[in-house]
Amino acid sequence: MSRYWSPVVHGLTPYVPGEQPKLAHLVKLNTNENPYGPSPRALEAIQEATASSLRLYPDPNGEALKATLATYLGVRADQVFVGNGSDEVLAHAFMALLNQDQPLWFPDITYSFYPVYCGLYGIQSKQVPLRGDFSMCAEDYLPRPQERAGGIIFPNPNAPTGCLLSLEGIERIVAGNPDVVVVVDEAYVDFGGASALPLVDRYPNLLVVQTFSKSRSLAGLRVGFAVGHPALVEALERVKNSFNSYPLDRLAIAGAVASVQDEAHFRESCRKVVATRGTLVAQMNQLGFEVLPSAANFIFARHPSCAAADLASALRERAIIVRHFRQPRIDQFLRITVGTDEQCEILIEALVEILGG
Ligand SMILES: Cc1ncc(COP(=O)(O)O)c(C=O)c1O
Repeated sequence: MSRYWSPVVHGLTPYVPGEQPKLAHLVKLNTNENPYGPSPRALEAIQEATASSLRLYPDPNGEALKATLATYLGVRADQVFVGNGSDEVLAHAFMALLNQDQPLWFPDITYSFYPVYCGLYGIQSKQVPLRGDFSMCAEDYLPRPQERAGGIIFPNPNAPTGCLLSLEGIERIVAGNPDVVVVVDEAYVDFGGASALPLVDRYPNLLVVQTFSKSRSLAGLRVGFAVGHPALVEALERVKNSFNSYPLDRLAIAGAVASVQDEAHFRESCRKVVATRGTLVAQMNQLGFEVLPSAANFIFARHPSCAAADLASALRERAIIVRHFRQPRIDQFLRITVGTDEQCEILIEALVEILGG
């Protein structure tokens, strides 16, 4: 607290990211990073960019990345916006598109940055409860005679549940709310979801946001992007150019472009994560855990007789970190990132010991 703060700062409740511990030997399964590392081609491109051009400002519009993504995704470059991680892209979307007269709708259990952006930008919100099985139901997002949304945002797969809404469900929400923007946050879609990207040409109110942090294993580079109608992209550009002209540095642009060009590495990395997820879920079930159906690179699990907070601290004593949210409805769950097979074996051995003890 300080008397020098602007009034808005007093009212903020900042997001608390998962811990990035300094100790190297930990089994780190708390922030949904990809254990397999980025494409070697991305690393080469980053090294080359480091050697040749850091003296110069980067391209403020990241045109090379926009063009690469447009070709890869089968859209036009003016439908693509790029930013410093998808968090920044989302922040701009909150300000540029979701700050309306009516409240913004999002699930009651979801990415905890959404309420933070609402606080930052003074956006009213309504939290739409997930169903009893933690699924999202499209009908809950359709306008009613007395009530309509000013905007809608949700992750698909949802976080931290990992549950997926079908493409039909997404289309119902987007088609049923033609007057407001629907943002689908696809941070984890490459691990088993159907992307809403094929819908963007038909629905001018749909914005799809993705990231290089998870499936492309470039969380440290900070690259995210959005795809939608050029008018939505223009709104994002207007906010971006009123905030920071150069959100992507030269290394980020070079690394991201090369990453998109290495399809084989991307596919193999996702395949391995999905395979390990299957084994992990089966082993957790054997230990008595209920695991929600996950289409992401993490699982969300609870044990009928052992409190999640106790499990999290017992794992931590064994140098394994997972994420626990002290939040109504989900405080008995642990969110566990799918690591390598070896990391998951260490986790399972520790759980056997803790539950047996
Ligand atoms: C649902 C969701 N959206 C967006 C992000 C932000 O990812 P990044 O800013 O690394 O692109 C995360 C990160 O964990 C996430 O879980």
